[in-house]
Amino acid sequence: MALFGKKEKSELTLPEKLPEHVGFIMDGNGRWAKKRGLPRSFGHREGAKQFKKIVRYCKDIGLKNISFYAFSTENWQRPDDEVNTIMELFRDYIVDVRNFLSENTRMIFLGDKSAFDADLQEKMIKLEEDTAHYTEMNLMMAVNYGGRDEITHAARILAQKALDGEIKPEDITEQSVADHLYTAGLPDVDLLIRPSGELRLSNYLIWQCAYAEYYFTDVLWPDFTPAELDKALIEYARRNRRFGGV
Ligand code: IPE
Ligand code: IPE
Ligand code: MG
Repeated sequence: MALFGKKEKSELTLPEKLPEHVGFIMDGNGRWAKKRGLPRSFGHREGAKQFKKIVRYCKDIGLKNISFYAFSTENWQRPDDEVNTIMELFRDYIVDVRNFLSENTRMIFLGDKSAFDADLQEKMIKLEEDTAHYTEMNLMMAVNYGGRDEITHAARILAQKALDGEIKPEDITEQSVADHLYTAGLPDVDLLIRPSGELRLSNYLIWQCAYAEYYFTDVLWPDFTPAELDKALIEYARRNRRFGGV
């Protein structure tokens, strides 16, 4: 396993024990721009650049599952021009992604795709299908994602199956619920990282974070470098996870 990428060397030595799934809440773009007297859109652009850097670094250090909160079901409440900027950045990413998606990376979108333009939905599905057989790293991107929305969506599918006689209510288990989430077949979050100083989940992977370790930092997402990720990974390795046992 290559511990460090050629371009992104870090001073820190990474621990042997890396989390199976690292979740990132990419927060603080707006404040990053405000601090510089720039419009919020600049922060989103910078945040998108940082996202690509961090994805590459995660692959270099051998992480297997990474997820990024890019746009929540609640973020539609923002002013139209801000939503449009974020959607444009998302579109650029989807159109261009094959040029910078590292080899052997599977791409999965978490969230309700139906809110996006038809052509964008098609591109997202095609990308998921075309990369479904890749095994080195799973890259999950949460767009129009909400944890409550996800669980509600799973409940509806299970209710329909029960109504159709495919399952009985007692067949519904924690596993079958998990199998109907957007993250079906993917591991729960081990380490959840939230930059920008906010100490909350904001509806991100609420089921999958049930036993996650949380790492909060005041650094804003556009300033969140590979070295910041190293710090989180080192801190994670020090934690004692008990899962309710002793
Ligand atoms: C995160 O940055 C990006 C999205 C939520 C889309 P913010 O835009 O929330 O930045 P702050 O929290 O206002 O600084
Ligand atoms: C969470 O950030 C959503 C994303 C980073 C995509 P928000 O900025 O929307 O969260 P709140 O409003 O501070 O809780
Ligand atoms: Mg925010």
